[in-house]
This record gives sequence, C-alpha cells and structure tokens, in this order.
Amino acid sequence: MTIYAPTAVTAYADARAVLEEPRLVPEPAVVADAPGGSLAWLRATVARFTGDARVHARRRAHAMTALADLDPRELRQAAAGSAVGSDDRHTVVRVLAEALGMPGPDEVAEAVVAISAGYFGGELTPAQAKAADKAVASLLVWTAQAGGEADSEAAAQRIGVLVQACDATARLVENARRSAPDGPPPGGADALLAAVLRHDPPVTTLRRRAPADIRVGGLDLRAGQVALIDVVAAAPGTPADRSDPDSGEQDEQAHLAFGAGPHRCPGQAQALALAAGLLARDELAANVASALDYHAEAVGRFGASDDPEEQA
Ligand code: HEM
Repeated sequence: MTIYAPTAVTAYADARAVLEEPRLVPEPAVVADAPGGSLAWLRATVARFTGDARVHARRRAHAMTALADLDPRELRQAAAGSAVGSDDRHTVVRVLAEALGMPGPDEVAEAVVAISAGYFGGELTPAQAKAADKAVASLLVWTAQAGGEADSEAAAQRIGVLVQACDATARLVENARRSAPDGPPPGGADALLAAVLRHDPPVTTLRRRAPADIRVGGLDLRAGQVALIDVVAAAPGTPADRSDPDSGEQDEQAHLAFGAGPHRCPGQAQALALAAGLLARDELAANVASALDYHAEAVGRFGASDDPEEQA
C-alpha cells in the first residue's frame, strides 16, 4: 500500500470542508486487545478519536450529558476563587471534578494530568505508562462513585471530558498571560481570550485521515492520507483565506480554535469560563500584591506610628 505524505491545509474553506466531512475521521487510537481500564482502552473508547459516525454520536451524547452538569458561570466563579500558585492544569481539573461531584478532586486532578501525557499519543516512559494506566483505572472507580455510572463507555466519556479540558484550557491561560503580562486590556478577559484563540490558540493542529480517495473542498486526498489543518493559518480573514474579504462573509466565520463539524469541541463555554476565572484570579492577586507593596512602602517612608490609638 502506498503511504502518502500528509497534506497541509491552510485555507479556511478547505479546513472547514475537511472538518465537516463525516467520512474524514480523526486518526484512530484503537489498539488490538487493549486491556479494559487502561490508557489504550480510554483512547480507543472516547468520542475524540472515534471515526464511525454512529458510534461517535453515541459517545458524544454521553460527553454532552456530563457537560450539562458543568454550568459555565459556576465554573468561572470557582476558578476565580482558586488558590494562586498551583499548576493551572490541576486547578482546571479540580474545579471540573468538584462540579461533577467526584470524590477527592485533588486525586482526580493528579490522575488526569498523568493521563494527559499520553492521551494524544505522545511517547511515555514505562513508569509514565504505568501511572497513566493506574490513573484510568482509579478514575473509572471515582466516576462510578460520583454518578453511579456503571456503563464503562459512558464513564470513559466523563474521563475524556476532564482530559480534553486539562492541557488545552491551561495553555489558553498561559498564552493569554504571555500576550497581556500586565493583565487583560480594557476589553477585559473575554476580549483577550477571543484574540488569543484567534492568533495564538492552544490547539494548533487538527488531523483527519481519508479512509478512501476523496475530494474535499479544493483538496484531493488519497486513501490513508492525513490532512493536517493549521489552525492559525486557516483562520478566517488571514491571507491564506480564499474567501472575498469584501463580501462581509468573514464576520460570520468562526476561527477554528475549537474545531468544527461533528467533533467540534463541546466544552467551549466551559473552557472560556475557566480561563476567564483564572485570569480574574490573577488580576485580583496582582492588585492585592501591589496594595501590600504600596502599604509597605508608605510605612517605610513615614515610619510606623508610636501612638497606640493608631495601631488598631
Ligand atoms: C481552551 C480550551 C479548549 C480548546 C482550545 C479545545 C479545543 C478542542 C478541539 C479543537 C477539539 C476537536 C478536535 C478535533 O476535531 O480533532 C476538541 C474536542 C473536544 N473537547 Fe475541547 N477544547 C478546550 C477545552 C475543553 C473543555 C474545557 C472541555 C470540557 C469541559 C472540552 C471537551 C472536549 C471534548 C469532549 C472533545 C471531543 C469531542 C468529539 O470528538 O466529539 N474541551 N476540543
């Protein structure tokens, strides 16, 4: 069988066509005889890597049920009130686990971070692989305790929701901090996040495999060939976008930071809420720190008063 080099997709119209074409599937993560409750089993069971449209719809519906319990306003508030100084990935998962009523949110967060290292197919050391398998098995138990989720396929989607949220949301916050080190500009956190998602998104490449020769948008893909979508280059309104800039059409075109089509991220509202909450927390912490600095400086300048009346 001929192996074709991946095709880079940098035009918005082509990227949308690829993502919206149900016959083009995410690269499968199925491993023969993956032991139940292992990382390989999780990857083979989550909606994220499922190609078959019928199976994907069933799995995605389970993920949507979990997401229905995650109210963005409450997540934003919880993230805004979280402790400064912890790993953002940990905080993101902790907040979600609490909202899902899972026992031991800190243990859940550690487990999800351990799984994240290999969830997208990255190479793991034997020790990391063992930790990831153990983490999946523990999460299955905790998921069952939280919602009485006896169906392991449904439980896998709950775990999938946590793992999908973990790195991407933390990276969005990191990119936003890098873009605005002194805190959000006048438009606030929401405007900052919108700009970061457009120009410096946390997920930069999306992949789809063609099961057979197929023409999609302006692309001819051969059987087995992978289309690699460059999320930044293929954003609407960039030079790579082939649509007419005067058509007014671009305002209605959404960037692809959350994907598009059947696998589009179902957690966008939750992601934005968590990220905005974390940025608000940073801002509050920075204001408190500068108020304390100001106070310390003032005390240094004028000296502490000896008058006991003023020391209360
Ligand atoms: C800034 C943060 C996030 C970004 C940029 C992001 C981006 C994405 C993208 C691009 C996909 C589609 C992948 C593809 O088509 O190949 C996806 C899928 C998914 N995301 Fe997100 N995501 C984020 C946060 C979240 C959060 C917070 C949740 C849940 C609370 C979540 C849940 C999911 C799930 C379950 C899928 C799989 C959907 C399916 O395959 O049907 N994501 N995400």
